[in-house]
Amino acid sequence: MKFREYKIGARFFALALGGSMTITLLMPSFDINNVTATEVALDKQLWAGHESGFSLEDPFLTGLHKPVKVLLKNDPKTGQPMEPTTAYVYEAGTTFPGGILHPDNLGAIVKQLSLDRGHINEANKDQGAVFLVKPDEQKHYYIENATATMGWTPDAVLKTAGDANTQHAAYGKTVFVREGCWWCHTLLPEQTQDWQVFGAPPMLGDFNGESPTAFGSDRKAPDLLHVGSRNSSKEWMMLHFFNPRLVQPHSIMPRFDYLWGPVDAKGQKIDFDKWRAEYNEYREGKRVTAPDVPMYASNSDARALIDFVLTLK
Ligand code: HEC
Repeated sequence: MKFREYKIGARFFALALGGSMTITLLMPSFDINNVTATEVALDKQLWAGHESGFSLEDPFLTGLHKPVKVLLKNDPKTGQPMEPTTAYVYEAGTTFPGGILHPDNLGAIVKQLSLDRGHINEANKDQGAVFLVKPDEQKHYYIENATATMGWTPDAVLKTAGDANTQHAAYGKTVFVREGCWWCHTLLPEQTQDWQVFGAPPMLGDFNGESPTAFGSDRKAPDLLHVGSRNSSKEWMMLHFFNPRLVQPHSIMPRFDYLWGPVDAKGQKIDFDKWRAEYNEYREGKRVTAPDVPMYASNSDARALIDFVLTLK
């Protein structure tokens, strides 16, 4: 090798190293106070809760103590019909998300509104709380503690909404992290042709208070950030998670039938061996239709995962 070439190479290397070190050292100096949490960030941190990855409260990622997102069609105090309202229910003992614990995360304007109008600092973990996302006159979204402002208790809200209007999305995100869906899927469309296929890339303020972000590292499968807007069918998700080949014959996605647990929605034991045998007959052309997929129990991992996926709008 000629000496001159070596010197040019060394200079390029130094430039690349210096450049990347500058970025690494300067990027964290972004002031979070200046990044206003968007409506997306407020919604996301309230449904996802404090931690949906590894945490000391739930070291085995079982989905313990997670908040739920509900759609209320009746006032939980009077029972009278009202405009459909999304509420986030934290039962007693469930840790609040970053934005409630450390309002600085919300950015200056949202922080002030959430404290002054939203009374978020009056929320008490031991009693639980119900939160809402509200806009002010200038369309700044902030968090309201409906337990303090309207006296809505977690129990009353859960009872009024009912199981059909309740989404266990935070528990589902924990299952997403635990099952390694992010080895194949991303939650981060980029500013390329992705935009047309998978929907808009997120904005900087969409992540305030979220932990973990579960972006994914490498994409072998479709981006899922907006999958609930492409496909909102619970039935399709149910078939696809039980065995992706039921709806996508050439899919490489693994089956997640074990997330159903031992019993179905009626409490009857699921016979996986029988299902498999019938499915194999179907593949060999000895049956006309594939065997029916059992309906999942409402407290199963499968239900939570489907709630999570359909929350990604
Ligand atoms: C080995 C890679 C792999 C893993 C792991 C994986 N998937 Fe997939 N997934 C795929 C592929 C490939 C597709 C596209 C073909 C299909 O629909 O099956 C897909 C499709 C999907 C779709 C439909 C996407 C759309 O655009 O309509 C959803 C939803 C989904 N996966 C969710 C999950 C979840 C949740 C997990 C974790 C429990 C998971 N996947 C794990 C490979 C994977």
